[in-house]
Amino acid sequence: MCGIVGYTGPQSAITPIVEGLRRLEYRGYDSAGIALGTNNSLFVEKRAGKLANLEAALPANLPTVHSGIGHTRWATHGGPTDSNAHPHLDNEGKLAVIHNGIIENYSELRKELEARGHAFSSETDTESVAHLLSDLHKEHGGDLTAAMRAAVKRLRGSFTLLAIHADAPQTIVGVRRNSPLVAGIGKGENFLASDVAAFIDYTKRAVELGQDEVVTISPEAITICDLEGRAVALREYEITWDAAAAQKGGFTHFMLKEIFDQPKAIADTLIGRLSDNNQILLDELHMSDDEMRQIKRISVIACGTAYHAGMVAKYAIEKWAKIPVDVEIASEYRYRDPIIDKYCLVIAISQSGETMDLLMAVRHAKAAGARVLAVCNTNSSTIPRESDAVLYTHAGPEIAVASTKAFLTQIVAIYLIGLKLAQVRKQLTEKEVRDLYSQMLELPGKVEQILETIEPLRELTRKFVKNDTILFLGRGIEYPVALEGALKLKELAYIHAEGFAGGELKHGPIALIEEGTAVIAILPPADEHGLDEKMLSNIQEVKARGARVVVIAPEGAEVIGAEHIIRIPVTSSLFQPVLATVPLQVFAYEIAVARGTDVDQPRNLAKSVTVE
Ligand code: F6R
Repeated sequence: MCGIVGYTGPQSAITPIVEGLRRLEYRGYDSAGIALGTNNSLFVEKRAGKLANLEAALPANLPTVHSGIGHTRWATHGGPTDSNAHPHLDNEGKLAVIHNGIIENYSELRKELEARGHAFSSETDTESVAHLLSDLHKEHGGDLTAAMRAAVKRLRGSFTLLAIHADAPQTIVGVRRNSPLVAGIGKGENFLASDVAAFIDYTKRAVELGQDEVVTISPEAITICDLEGRAVALREYEITWDAAAAQKGGFTHFMLKEIFDQPKAIADTLIGRLSDNNQILLDELHMSDDEMRQIKRISVIACGTAYHAGMVAKYAIEKWAKIPVDVEIASEYRYRDPIIDKYCLVIAISQSGETMDLLMAVRHAKAAGARVLAVCNTNSSTIPRESDAVLYTHAGPEIAVASTKAFLTQIVAIYLIGLKLAQVRKQLTEKEVRDLYSQMLELPGKVEQILETIEPLRELTRKFVKNDTILFLGRGIEYPVALEGALKLKELAYIHAEGFAGGELKHGPIALIEEGTAVIAILPPADEHGLDEKMLSNIQEVKARGARVVVIAPEGAEVIGAEHIIRIPVTSSLFQPVLATVPLQVFAYEIAVARGTDVDQPRNLAKSVTVE
C-alpha cells in the first residue's frame, strides 16, 4: 500500500509530485507528505488525512524547487497522525525517506540507533531507515546510492524506499524489495513512482525495476545497480494506456466510470482470440499442447474479488476441460501443505499484480514445482514478472478501490484459458468452442443493455439505504456472485452483508431472517440442473419468514415471491455471472452514495495490498 513519487527536472517539482500523489491516492489515504530539495536544506510538509489536507497546508509562497519526493500513506506501524506521516527525516533534517511496506526488524534497528544518539519522533518502522541511512551516508562520503545499498543489507521485510539529501537535492535514490517501484524517463526530467499512473501525463517511457535493485535518478540520467554496486541494464517499456483512461471522464466517481467501462473492457479482453479455423489463440500461456494435456489439476489462488472470479471460473473449466479445479484464498495457501507438482497448473489472479498475499503464494507454488500462470491487469507488475506466463486482462487502469471491471475481465480471461484447455484436450469440438466464444462476444452488448436501464435500479436502491443487514443468495455459479455482491456492499456502504449458497440457508443462516430483512437473490437461467426451481423455493422460504426479496432474473423467467425484480438479458448459466454482477455493483454504489460514504476510497482500505 502507500503511494510514492519522486521527481527531478526543470519543472517546479511540487506540480508533478502533488499530481502524482493524487493519482496514487488510491493506494492509501491516511496521510500525505512531501520533501522538496531546496539549497542545502529540505522543505518538508506532512499532514494526517487525505492529500487535500496537505495541499491546504502548503504555503502560498512555496519556493520553486526542482526535485522532491511525495508520499500518501496506508498506516501500518503507528496511527494516521501528522508525526507518523512520511517523509521521515534524520536528526539534522537533511535527509528524507518515504517508504511503502514493512521493515520487520525496525525495532532492533531503532534500539541500536537510539543507543548511538539518534532521537526518534514517530512510531513508524520507516523512521529507523532515515536514521540508518543518515549514518551510512556519512560513512560513504555523501554517496546516497552507496548508502542505500548498505542500508538495504540491514533491512528485513518488504519495502520500496525513496530518499533525498539536501546536499545533492537533484538526485533521488530508490530501491524495491517485494513492493512496487517504477521509473519514468522524461525529456531532461525523470520520475520514480509506485505506479506509472503517477507520471503518465509526462511520459509513456517506463523502466522496470527488479528485486533489490537500487535506482538513482537525476534530471539527465537513470542508473540502476544491484546491492553490490554492479550496473544493471535498463529494461524499458512503453505504457500503453493514456492519461484520459485514468480520469473520471465526466462521471461523479471512478467506480461509476469503471462500471460503465465494462462493455469495452470485456470486448478488449476477448478480441482476436479465435482464429479463422476456430482455434483459441492464447500464445501467452507459453505451453505446448502436450504440456496442456498433461495437466492433472488446476489450483486457482487469489484474494477478495479476484478470488470470487476464480470461484466462478472453476465451474466453467471443470465443465469444459474436465480438469479438477480448486480455488483458494492466497493468504491461506502456503500455510498448509498444498499438493503441488509439475502437473499442477497454478493460476494466480490479480488486478494489481502486487498483492503480497498472492505473491507469496506464487513463490510457494513455484518453489514446489508448479507452473504458475498469472491473470493480471497491470503490465510489468511483480506477480506476472515472477510467474511462468501471464495473460493480461485489458480492463485499463482501475482506480476506484472497489474492483469492478477487473472482476468481469478476470472471468472472461480465465474462460478463454478453459476453452483453450478443453480444445487441446479434445473435450469440446471446434463447433462447441466457436459457439461458446460467440456467446462470450455477446456479453459486452448485454452488459451495455443493463447499464442503459439502470435508472429503476437506482431508485429501488434508495428503499434499502437504511437497512443495516442485507443478505445475498446464489446457487451454483451464482454463489460466488452473491459473495461478490456482499463484498461490494460491505466495503462501499459499510453495511453488514453476507452471501450464502441458497441450499445452505436451512443449515443455519435462515435464523437471521426476520420481518423486513433485505435479501437479494440471483436466479440462474433454467437449465438441465433445475437450479432455478431450487432458488425459487429458497426465495419462498425467506419470504415466508418476512424477508423483502429483490430478485435478479433473466428476461422472461417466471419469478414468484419477489418484492422487486431486476431483469438482465438472457444468456447461458456459465455466462450469467458476468451479467448478474453488474446490478449488484450499481446497487452497492448507489447505497454508498446515498449513505454519503467515500465511494472511491472507502475507509481502512487501499487498492494495492502490498503487506501480508
Ligand atoms: C474488492 C477488492 C479487493 C481485491 C483484492 C485483490 O473490491 O478490490 O478484494 O480484489 O485485494 O487485489 P488484486 O486483484 O489487486 O490482487
